[in-house]
Amino acid sequence: MKSAGGRLLAGLELDRAAAQPLHQQLYAQLRTQILTGTLPTGTRLPSTRTLVTELGVSRITVVSAFEQLTAEGFLRSRAGDGTYVDTLWSDAAPQRPMSRPPLSERGAATSSRGTDLFSEAPHVWAPAETESFVASQVASSAFPAATWKRLLGRHAGRTDPLAIGYSDPHGHRPLREAIADYVNDVRGLGCTADQIVVTSGAQQAFNVLAVLLLDAGDPVVVEDPGHISGRLAFQSQGCPVRGVPVDNEGAVLPDEHDGAPPARLACLTPARHHPLGIAMSPARRAEWIAWAQRNGSWIVEDDCDSELRYRGKLLPTLFGLDLSRQVITVGSFSKVLAPSIRLGYCVLPEDLVEPFASASSVIGRPPAMVLQLALTDFLAEGHLHSHLRRTRRLYAARQDALLDAIDQQMSHRVQAGPVDAGLHVMGWLREPVDDIEVARGLAAGGVYTYPLGEYKLTRQLPPALLIGFAGTAAEHMPQAVGRMAAAWDRWERTTAGS
Ligand SMILES: Cc1ncc(COP(=O)(O)O)c(C=O)c1O
Repeated sequence: MKSAGGRLLAGLELDRAAAQPLHQQLYAQLRTQILTGTLPTGTRLPSTRTLVTELGVSRITVVSAFEQLTAEGFLRSRAGDGTYVDTLWSDAAPQRPMSRPPLSERGAATSSRGTDLFSEAPHVWAPAETESFVASQVASSAFPAATWKRLLGRHAGRTDPLAIGYSDPHGHRPLREAIADYVNDVRGLGCTADQIVVTSGAQQAFNVLAVLLLDAGDPVVVEDPGHISGRLAFQSQGCPVRGVPVDNEGAVLPDEHDGAPPARLACLTPARHHPLGIAMSPARRAEWIAWAQRNGSWIVEDDCDSELRYRGKLLPTLFGLDLSRQVITVGSFSKVLAPSIRLGYCVLPEDLVEPFASASSVIGRPPAMVLQLALTDFLAEGHLHSHLRRTRRLYAARQDALLDAIDQQMSHRVQAGPVDAGLHVMGWLREPVDDIEVARGLAAGGVYTYPLGEYKLTRQLPPALLIGFAGTAAEHMPQAVGRMAAAWDRWERTTAGS
């Protein structure tokens, strides 16, 4: 096989400027040629001397590459007769790039939805600055960094089995107890620690619930407009979602006489509709519970930001009202602490706790123990209560400052009113423009908001922006809103000119 050397050498390209050492480059390229069948079984390789001369590399470079390929079964040396491609790899069918199966339908659907709504976010919707109007942005200056660092430090150096081994699939028991105390106190859930499973945020809880409660094809009801987290998890399991409108009493019940099979599950935000901010009325709550009982359906109660309440009293959770054990509540520390911490919880009817904990472990195992231990102390020592008290005052002042600034500088563009809870107000656009285009235009000018259009399924809604107030200091609000007004003017001039 005299020609092999020529073929081989023509295919080899070593890059002296690359960080990867030359012997590794040579090894990798020869291995690829063998795996793809470019160098078939039995091909005799050029001698070390030839390769040294032709490639202009040292002998040690060639020898190291050959030694590694020989050790891994790609090459074989015959004493006095040179080096040959061995049969081990090259006898298998030649491996060609892209000969593998495609993504599953479910995988492709899941990842493309994620790409649209999550992966794009850092580039298009997320600010580089510490202050912005992003609806999920908490006050970074108010984050209890010193306490959190101290609590993490307390546990980070531990080497006992509890701290460094695999942890309880339900979550750290003292954390479950602390969360039960917290949700019973702040949200009146009336649950025990045994009913809590710790998750790495609400998103994980939705995914586990989707696997646990739904088969592909099971219809799911979501609010339209509605939060994307739960909807994406249910759609990713191959479940068709049907949107129900939201009126001034909260999510409207689905039509039960339209011939469609009843939904297996409804995902709702009763405490405070996300994103519109409407609290579900007591009558509507009773109707939803009766709907679940009549149809044998589940209700997933997404209760992710209701603790941040500025006025008025919270109505009880659906979980607390439901005696038929068909309601599951999902909570998160993303808004009361910070989204990057990735800690949340699911409050379940007793008989779902074990299945949920098992499925949760299969899907992703519990959150990092050091975080669970730090959060346990954070809750048990009362830091979350102090943080909530502080941030409620801070965010109420920020909301007032935002509304004042909008009133003074942008009332010709948006109409916004106060909210009782949460981190954003709805800014209803005065002009009938596409809110997604407006949000993109503002983001191009360095001003970040979320458009209502991203939250709707099929409903025609007036255009609006979710304008977050928690992430901007009250004293910076006039300038920040001024920047929004200027970015809007610039965007409008650009679109008018194009
Ligand atoms: C209503 C609602 N659902 C779900 C989530 C997602 O929460 P997580 O960051 O824990 O996944 C949020 C964000 O805080 C939210 O506001």
